[in-house]
Amino acid sequence: MKIGIGNDHVGYEMKQEIIDHLKERGYEVVDYGAYSSERCNYPVYGEKVANAIVNGEVDLGVLICGTGVGISLAANKVKGIRACVCSEPYTAKLSRMHNNAQIIAFGARVIGPELAMMIVDEFLNAEFQGGRHAERVALITEIENRQK
Ligand code: RB5
Repeated sequence: MKIGIGNDHVGYEMKQEIIDHLKERGYEVVDYGAYSSERCNYPVYGEKVANAIVNGEVDLGVLICGTGVGISLAANKVKGIRACVCSEPYTAKLSRMHNNAQIIAFGARVIGPELAMMIVDEFLNAEFQGGRHAERVALITEIENRQK
């Protein structure tokens, strides 16, 4: 499975640890930046990873900023993307199983690297359950399609 990862300056250091963790587990990782801790703007990287998913360059994504909020908000502006910001593994797992989220986001100012790795593992190990959940996700897509 191919994982796209992105971050702003606050998320840069944590990203390095997450990339190592993912590679150790056999994932192919595509790093969409930012590539240093120099101050930058999180929407740029949220959009890059979201587009990579929509274009089929990667299967799923991980986004990191200070809180996970800004970068996930940006990713969610890309049509078809469901990015979930969370700070614990249970929500990460259910965001795949029930919401078919393609991106997990979290904050380097909110959680530490160990918890971040647990969140990533739960997210990547879970599978969308379909059925009634697919109907609900389809309703989310309908909302998106009604927007001008
Ligand atoms: C940067 O200071 C900070 O605003 C950003 O990393 C993120 O937390 C935004 O949601």
